[in-house]
Amino acid sequence: MKHLYSRLFLIILFAAVFAGCSAPGAATNGGDAYSSTIQPIFDAKCSSCHGAGKTEAGLNLTSWDHLIQGSDSGEAIVAFDSEHSVIVRMATQLVGGAHPANQPASALTEAEVVTLKSWIDQGAKGPNGLAPFSGNREFVYVTNQGEATINVIDVEANVVARRVDLTKMGFDKGAKPHHVAVEPDGSFWYATLISGGVILKFNRNNEIVGRSVFEVPGLLSMDPSSNKLYVGRSMAAVNPPQRIGMIDRETMEIEELDVFFPRPHALAVSADGEYVYSASLAENKAIAVEVKNEESTFVDIDGPIHTVVDLEVSPDGKIMIGTAQLTGKLFFFDATNPAEFPLIEAIDVNAAPWHPVFSRDGAKVYFANKMAQTVTVVDVASRKVEAVIEGYGLAQPHGAALSLDGKTLYISGNNLNAAYESRHDFGEGSRSPGTVAVIDLTTNKVVKVLEVGLYASGTAGRPSF
Ligand code: HEC
Repeated sequence: MKHLYSRLFLIILFAAVFAGCSAPGAATNGGDAYSSTIQPIFDAKCSSCHGAGKTEAGLNLTSWDHLIQGSDSGEAIVAFDSEHSVIVRMATQLVGGAHPANQPASALTEAEVVTLKSWIDQGAKGPNGLAPFSGNREFVYVTNQGEATINVIDVEANVVARRVDLTKMGFDKGAKPHHVAVEPDGSFWYATLISGGVILKFNRNNEIVGRSVFEVPGLLSMDPSSNKLYVGRSMAAVNPPQRIGMIDRETMEIEELDVFFPRPHALAVSADGEYVYSASLAENKAIAVEVKNEESTFVDIDGPIHTVVDLEVSPDGKIMIGTAQLTGKLFFFDATNPAEFPLIEAIDVNAAPWHPVFSRDGAKVYFANKMAQTVTVVDVASRKVEAVIEGYGLAQPHGAALSLDGKTLYISGNNLNAAYESRHDFGEGSRSPGTVAVIDLTTNKVVKVLEVGLYASGTAGRPSF
């Protein structure tokens, strides 16, 4: 009996010594690495300024739950990606001196930076053992055309939750991810790669689970009534095939439908899913294709070349709107009979209206004005501009996505003109990131500007059908 006790004691002692010997930041199998290695660093070096009493920049580092909410401006960490986590960049790349030594306060040691980085690269898991924003959460996706990445934004926290790096998935830096579409239940999402020549299907964990091959894909449009997904051709393509793509979202099999005009870019689907609409960038022509028999009806639009960027059907299916880049107009088509869709009105809006999104109740439509750094709110019933939203961070604004509750609007910005300057200087090339302006629709104010990858273009959240 005595013998057994002493053996047990030895085993316990050995286990304790072994655990104590593990290098800082090394994977702790099943243990809570956050509480044992990360929180003590924050307690010692950060919480005097980022604590409950004083919360500089709105960043509270007294717990994992607080940390993952980020600062007033955006996320502090991106799980699995220390290289793009602000908290690490502040400590290692800040021009003019590392943080927090620049405050002044004592700097993080090299060993502490290593610990922090490896914890983030292993998923920034919390005391619950899960990476932040795991599970069935609501996300908005933003493609960064300039660097072949896609950012995933958590809608509740309004921070970047993940960075999907296509260069680590077999694509090159010039693959140009352009647009996204998300399943209504958030289970899968899709992205077009203009130069990659594919439409990718991702699961909720951002793993590629399927693909369709298509020359210079541009916009995506989801069929509300079946499992079809439509794809048009990129604006960057001067002479693409005069066909749009129809994808089976389950198998990712693709079929092409003739549209008989050059540069089909804009896309929309009728509420019953029986018609798909497109318009030409080069001619004043729009088309409705009846999906089951491929019969088509055309609508000609008068005037100079408008260059219709995008089309969108209202939730009740009665109105289709179109945005005209070159003439700064918003078109209203009557879609009550989806096969006919006559143009019933055109109103003037700010320069270069881009991708529109309807409010969840269909009463309003929102779109960015790419050449005016504004967002326009239009009342659908009266067909009048109700408000024009301005704000820092609307930088060549491009895409529009809405939260499921309809209260938050996300506007992606190319920012190739450097209208927005990043809030920290991390050196060469870091000052003009793509942007996502988060707009509170109860006040029509930009409440946050998330810094995303270079040349942010398309964005989408979950549709409500
Ligand atoms: C002496 C006070 C002080 C200490 C200590 C301090 N900070 Fe800060 N921190 C600030 C102030 C002030 C700002 C806002 C100004 C700025 O962004 O540079 C800031 C900003 C930040 C930001 C940027 C937030 C954003 O989204 O822009 C991060 C990240 C950050 N701190 C992390 C840390 C970490 C990690 C530590 C501990 C290693 C720490 N800070 C310690 C004062 C401090």
